This record gives sequence, C-alpha cells and structure tokens, in this order.
Amino acid sequence: MDASTSRITNRALHSDAVAGLSQTPKGLSPKWFYDALGSEIFEEITQLAEYYPARTERAILEAQLPRIAAHVPEGAALVELGSGASVKTRLLLDGLPQLSAYVPVDISEDFLHATASDLAADYPALTVTPVVADFMTPVRLPDLGRAPVVGFFPGSTIGNLAPEAAEALLARLGHWPHHQALILGVDLVKAPETLVAAYDDAQGVTARFNLNLLTRLNREVGAEFDLDTFRHLALWNAGEARVEMHLESQNDQVVRVGDELVAFAPGETIHTENSHKYTVERLSDLATSAGWRVDDFLTDADGLFGVFVLGR
Ligand code: AVJ
Repeated sequence: MDASTSRITNRALHSDAVAGLSQTPKGLSPKWFYDALGSEIFEEITQLAEYYPARTERAILEAQLPRIAAHVPEGAALVELGSGASVKTRLLLDGLPQLSAYVPVDISEDFLHATASDLAADYPALTVTPVVADFMTPVRLPDLGRAPVVGFFPGSTIGNLAPEAAEALLARLGHWPHHQALILGVDLVKAPETLVAAYDDAQGVTARFNLNLLTRLNREVGAEFDLDTFRHLALWNAGEARVEMHLESQNDQVVRVGDELVAFAPGETIHTENSHKYTVERLSDLATSAGWRVDDFLTDADGLFGVFVLGR
C-alpha cells in the first residue's frame, strides 16, 4: 500500500484502536469522538429535538439556580469536568457571584483555551485557569489557595463510565483538597423508545457523530475503513441500564488499521459508547458509597434528568 495513507499521526489513538479492535467484542473509547469535527457534531446533537438531556439540564439549572447557589460557599473555585463549549457554564457563572475562580478541565486543548480566554474576558473578576487533562485519569488541580472547591460535572458524562468506575471517579474527586460540593448532572432511566431516539435521531446527526470515529481513524492512524460498509446502531441494554452505540459492519471484510489487519464478520460491531442511565436511588447509593452526601436533588417536571448536589 501507499506509505502516505498508512501514516500514524496519533500514536495514542493508534495503540488504543489496535487494542480495542483486537478484542472480542470490539470496542473503542468514546473519548475519541471529540476531534474538531466531532466536537462540532456533538454541539449539533445538543440542539436536536430527540436529544432531551442537554436542553433539560439547562432548563433545570436555569430555573433552580438560587437553590444551587445556596450550596456554593463564598470565594469558591468552580472546577468543571469536560467543559467543552462551556455553554452551561455561563449560566452558573452568572448566578454564582460568590465564585472567585473557574477551572475548566478538558482533553480538547484548542477548544479549552478558546473558551477559557472568552470567559476570562467576559468575567474579569474571575481567575480562569484551564487544565488540559483527561478527567478519567487522576487530575491535579492548580493551586487555588484556600478557596473551597465546588465541582461541576454536567451533561451526564459520568454515564460513559460503568457504575463501578463512576463510583471510583466520584471517590477520587472527593480527595481534591477543599472539595466541598459537587454539582452532578445525570440522565435518568425512562421509556426505552425515548432513550433510543435520543441516540438515533431522524436527521442522522448521531450517526454522523459515531461514523466520524472511522473518518478520524482513517486520517490519524492510516486506517482504511469504508464508511459505506458500516452502519450506526443505538440500542437500550436493559440489564446494564445503558444506551449502547455501535458501528456495525455490513459485510465480511478485512480493514487495515495502521500496520494491522482487522477482520469483521457481517453484523459484527465496534462498541463505541455506553451511556448509563440512573434512577435517583441508584445514583444516591453510588454517591454515598463514594463518600458523598446527597444534599439536594433537582429535576424537571417530567423527571427526565437529574441534577444532584453532593456534599462531603
Ligand atoms: C456527552 C457522554 C453525555 O452519552 O449522551 C450524545 C454523548 N453520544 N449522543 C451522551 C453522546 C451520543 C453524551 N455524553
């Protein structure tokens, strides 16, 4: 084959992909969705009629901000995990004048620095200190002096983790110095039709989001996926209480991934994401096991989404 097409420009993605695609069943981490285009498509997803979590969480935060503010101490530093475009952040920053600092944590460096400088300009009284980090691994906070720390982990991103890993993450976050409160957004269990529609929209935006992973592999690790031979799949796994996304091979094929060859049977999938859904009770138990107290719980009129305020 032509050497230029097999050029590996992303070693971490390459080793992760080779490992994930040589397992049975095949899988890839959802963190790889978020290249520049993937981050844009995700913003599109948050605007979809079917994707209720984003707008519902926003509405909860908007409507019940004073109740959240009551849990945020004077001079607190707000640390946001997976800040992305920081749209919801402005809502909080506007409603929490007692904050002294804002620390966005994200793996997408370009996105992070762009939003951090916008926020610093718009909130001159706030010290904005972005941290480039994968919050699935232990994150070291910058020196925040004696400021009480309030974590903000919105979007039900915690749902990407299996419950045991989610509990471990919550426990780890509890060990940050001065960490006093954690505002945690979690998608709740509901009718499977509603859940599946949120991950398989009529316009095919989520399908594009999922398939972009293959485009990224082609570009960054010299893979040769033919996108026309893979199909987006979203399903509700009731036993595990999660929506799963997969990319399903439509035929028997062998695909080059860097210097490796990966065989697919017809109907075989690459499992690309889990979005775990919780009941209030299940999440409360998990938070308690991780050493937190549930100080408050906010939801919408239909009980679609939950915002938990945890304390130590
Ligand atoms: C950003 C992980 C919360 O699981 O709902 C949206 C990502 N994937 N549509 C989610 C996602 C497909 C989203 N999280």
